[in-house]
Amino acid sequence: MAGQPLPFRRTLSANVVALAPSYAALLALHIWGGLAGRPALLAAAGITVVTVLLVQRYLGSLARFARFVSELSDVQEPVMPRLSFAPATEELAAAAATLAMGWRRQRAAIDDLAASAQAIVDGLPDPLIALDRHRRIVRSNIAARRLLGVIAGERDLSMTLRHPELLDAIDGLLKPGADGNFPAADQIAVEIVLSGTPERDVIVHARRLPRAAADGSLALLVLHDTTALRRAERMRADFVANASHELKTPIAGLAGFIETLRGPARDDAAARERFLGIMAEQADRMRRLVDDLLMLSRIEQHEHARPAGAVDLASVLHGVRDLLQLKASARQVAVELEIDDALPKAVGDHDELTIVFQNLIDNALKYARASTTVKVTARPLGPDHVSVAVSDEGDGIAAAHLPRLTERFYRVDNARSRQLGGTGLGLAIVKHVVSRHRGRLEIQSVPGKGSTFSVTLPAA
Ligand SMILES: Nc1ncnc2c1ncn2[C@@H]1O[C@H](COP(=O)(O)OP(=O)(O)OP(=O)(O)O)[C@@H](O)[C@H]1O
Ligand SMILES: [Mg+2]
Repeated sequence: MAGQPLPFRRTLSANVVALAPSYAALLALHIWGGLAGRPALLAAAGITVVTVLLVQRYLGSLARFARFVSELSDVQEPVMPRLSFAPATEELAAAAATLAMGWRRQRAAIDDLAASAQAIVDGLPDPLIALDRHRRIVRSNIAARRLLGVIAGERDLSMTLRHPELLDAIDGLLKPGADGNFPAADQIAVEIVLSGTPERDVIVHARRLPRAAADGSLALLVLHDTTALRRAERMRADFVANASHELKTPIAGLAGFIETLRGPARDDAAARERFLGIMAEQADRMRRLVDDLLMLSRIEQHEHARPAGAVDLASVLHGVRDLLQLKASARQVAVELEIDDALPKAVGDHDELTIVFQNLIDNALKYARASTTVKVTARPLGPDHVSVAVSDEGDGIAAAHLPRLTERFYRVDNARSRQLGGTGLGLAIVKHVVSRHRGRLEIQSVPGKGSTFSVTLPAA
């Protein structure tokens, strides 16, 4: 190792200290006549040369030792220098090296611990934020960053969540009272709405730790996204309201006619006949509605179990066409099947797929203009799928309605659908069956031109 030159003053003073006793002894010998002038001078010269040499080496060793110890704190381990001219320093250097190695190992263990703590926090599915006693963010996990975007670390929580009621509640949790103690309650839950598209309903659960953690964390915030839950609740409530509303009209109709038949029309045979006809229609409407509701709930119950049969779609489509032939002729609409010769079977349930295509072709017939053609095309799609498209030449559907079309009871034109005998549940049933089959429903429509409903299913 290339040594730096030793400072001159230190060398000088070390030499003076080392030589002083020898010079003093020679001087004393000379004064008391034990040693003549010349030999005394010769001896002094010899001692000086040897001492300067030894001191030089010794100081060099010490300097290397000092450098070695200071280099031990670096990341790279230094090479132990040869310290032969300062024997004790060799042991000291070895001890220092052992100390440094232990310290380095401990630091690696602490780093590992910190990394695995963060890995565990990141692995949690719920968004989590840790706050210190000043409400500053100490730590956050991946789920939190996914929900809230960039989270400014070591900044006040209000930079990330600007909800006064939440911030107040957290202040209440973190602020010691006049007696210096924290309030008795150590957890709170606050509901907030996160702005953005779409808005998200979130419940923030905050809990104060018994004492601050090593990283300063004193409170943990866990955020529960309840958007889907809320939507499901709303949908359930809407569904019950809609179903009741759909049933109310025919029931009111029936009650009205019964009243009339008992009263004013009691003896009017012609009116009775007419009213009974209408009543039968209303009863039929209620039956259809209940049938559809039951089917929907049945499909929903099994939505997670994937059907495993192999279904010949050509025979399904021919069957559906035959079933709807009468309706098609009445509306002067032709149904044209175009089935690829190489069409593989689809993975699914025969009866359920019949219901799907019956609904789609029934819609096409209902909403097609007179003297047009409804085209049904079935073909393989890639090696693993089959696709069936039902196209009509009808009025089409405005783009704004497309995303909601498969909702229960959603109709573009309520009056028209009801007048055509629709319940508004057909496409909801289609969507559920297709999703149970792990398939896809796509709707394309050009207002004024017509619509195409395509169903993609896995091939057997
Ligand atoms: N081919 C189509 N052309 C134009 N509009 C359509 C077409 N198919 C469906 N729609 C619109 O979507 C709405 C929902 O369709 P859906 O099949 O769910 O109900 P519906 O046909 O009214 O009643 P049903 O339950 O008897 O099928 C319809 O009311 C209609 O407004
Ligand atoms: Mg329909």
